[in-house]
Amino acid sequence: MSLYDRILGHPFVYHRVRPLVVGIDYTPQYEALDAHSDDRILDIGCGGGDALRYLGSFETYHGFDTDEVAISFAKQRPEAKRPDVHFEAALVSPATLQDIRPTRVMMNGLLHHLDDEAAVDLLRMCGATNTVERIVTNDTVYLAGEPLNNILARLDRGRFVRRIEGYRELVARAGLTIVHEELVRSHATRGIARYLVMVLEPKGAIPVGGVVPTRSP
Ligand SMILES: C[S@@+](CC[C@H](N)C(=O)[O-])C[C@H]1O[C@@H](n2cnc3c(N)ncnc32)[C@H](O)[C@@H]1O
Repeated sequence: MSLYDRILGHPFVYHRVRPLVVGIDYTPQYEALDAHSDDRILDIGCGGGDALRYLGSFETYHGFDTDEVAISFAKQRPEAKRPDVHFEAALVSPATLQDIRPTRVMMNGLLHHLDDEAAVDLLRMCGATNTVERIVTNDTVYLAGEPLNNILARLDRGRFVRRIEGYRELVARAGLTIVHEELVRSHATRGIARYLVMVLEPKGAIPVGGVVPTRSP
């Protein structure tokens, strides 16, 4: 991991400095996940476990990340002591999916860290798990006519930031349906970056509309 990645990925920088610079509020992303008390949530690329700030109720929450520093930070959260909350520093495999049998999968800020093959394989693997009803993705995105957003996207730690079409193509290759997609500001009032949120369901779901405008303050 480069020094740049290590600094930007350090829990203090990620959780304290980044929100001040970019403005961060993931409420729309977690609303899109639409989790309820009977949902088993698999959060892939969970980082320091910020999802727990947004999720109201669930049966179980399972956060996975390949970064051991992020997972040890997540494990220090008070919620990590709850019996229904689990964090693991590991890749998600078919065995993980069989074991957890998730109903909702969150990939908040993940796809732009994965190359096309890895992203398609992961989406396909989650979509092929018969318990999974919904997958939500949220990513940094290059947008025409948005130079400030695009500079921030260029500075992102993720090496695979795409245009909207690039993310759509991953979903199509994985055989999933986009039931909703939306461009949101990184924070409803202070956010200077734009993110693409996609709500995905297994093939056969009814797609809803195209990209709707960014939420305004
Ligand atoms: C932008 S951060 C998002 C963290 C968290 N979801 C959040 O919303 O704050 C992306 C995370 O994905 C993790 N990651 C990258 N590739 C991964 C993979 N193949 N499996 C699991 N996690 C991965 C990185 O270590 C990093 O913590």
